[in-house]
Amino acid sequence: MGKGCIDDRRHRWKSTSLIWILTTFLIYLVLRVLLSSSKSLIDSLSTSISDRRTALYDMLSSDLVKNGPVFLRGKTSQYIFDVRDGVVTPLLKGSYPPVRANILYISSKYSIPISHVIKDIFLPDFDQVIWFQNTTLYHFSMFHASHNVTSVFATDIEIEAEVNTVKSVADGLCPLKAVLDRVVLTSSGVLLGCWQVSSGSDPLLIRTKLKEALPRAPDKQVYDPVILHSTFARIFGHPNIQLKEQDEVNYLQDLVSHVNNKLRGFQATINELWYVEEFDVLALALDGKMKIRKCHLGCSSKLLNVTL
Ligand SMILES: *[C@@H]1O[C@H](CO)[C@@H](O)[C@H](O)[C@H]1NC(C)=O
Ligand SMILES: *[C@@H]1O[C@H](CO)[C@@H](O)[C@H](O)[C@H]1NC(C)=O
Repeated sequence: MGKGCIDDRRHRWKSTSLIWILTTFLIYLVLRVLLSSSKSLIDSLSTSISDRRTALYDMLSSDLVKNGPVFLRGKTSQYIFDVRDGVVTPLLKGSYPPVRANILYISSKYSIPISHVIKDIFLPDFDQVIWFQNTTLYHFSMFHASHNVTSVFATDIEIEAEVNTVKSVADGLCPLKAVLDRVVLTSSGVLLGCWQVSSGSDPLLIRTKLKEALPRAPDKQVYDPVILHSTFARIFGHPNIQLKEQDEVNYLQDLVSHVNNKLRGFQATINELWYVEEFDVLALALDGKMKIRKCHLGCSSKLLNVTL
């Protein structure tokens, strides 16, 4: 009996000291990473993230050549637009439950000059078959609490709770400087801006934090976790000039490189994260019905104040 007690205590003493040794070792490791090699560690992590983005953008750039301009065959976005008296109107369709999207907002300080360039180059040839993203709604899609493939129903109270938790995530994140790497036109006729990050909280970190904060969100998200892209326009028909089929791709690529000559390297500072309930399908893209909550990127957490 007594012996057993002594053994017990000795055993406890042994495991306590083991825990202490392990803890000390872990603290030592963490400090080492933070103090001595943090700069190079962070540098190499952010390099590999931007490399991943570049690879993704290379793939998006090759889509038009690889699959051809299928949007010219009326196969893609045509069904969401209607042209009447020369005016393009989106065909809005209710979405139930509403999609709940978290986006980074691009201020009109940046969207208006970008939109001018895009319109100057694309409007003359694509008048009546092009839809320009509203400059008050330029954005980068980050993370969906519910999307159109997997819907996650939430009550009003649950939605308010989601908004509050997103607010506290945003408060810890830092504003980011985004640099326009290139503009691409996809085979489905979407004109996309593909961006890199020169400082601030990386999209990968933002998505990780939002995923932690919104555990009920669909596991399978819509986009690659490193992508930072924004839609500028959607084309859904033929240009008003005569083209032979074999010339179409070259003609389109000329227009896109014209845009790139003017916009590559364009910089934007992003300091708002929005929680958006979309009551219509693609409401953010088509000026549909939605409810927006704006959260400021407060940069209150020092650890997130790095490019990662
Ligand atoms: C763009 O959206 C704003 C609201 O954010 C709206 O008032 C305006 O009419 C829209 N512009 C166009 C051209 O549809
Ligand atoms: C869901 O929305 C995305 C855009 O966010 C769109 O490309 C896709 O076609 C939609 N899918 C369905 C099934 O509606």
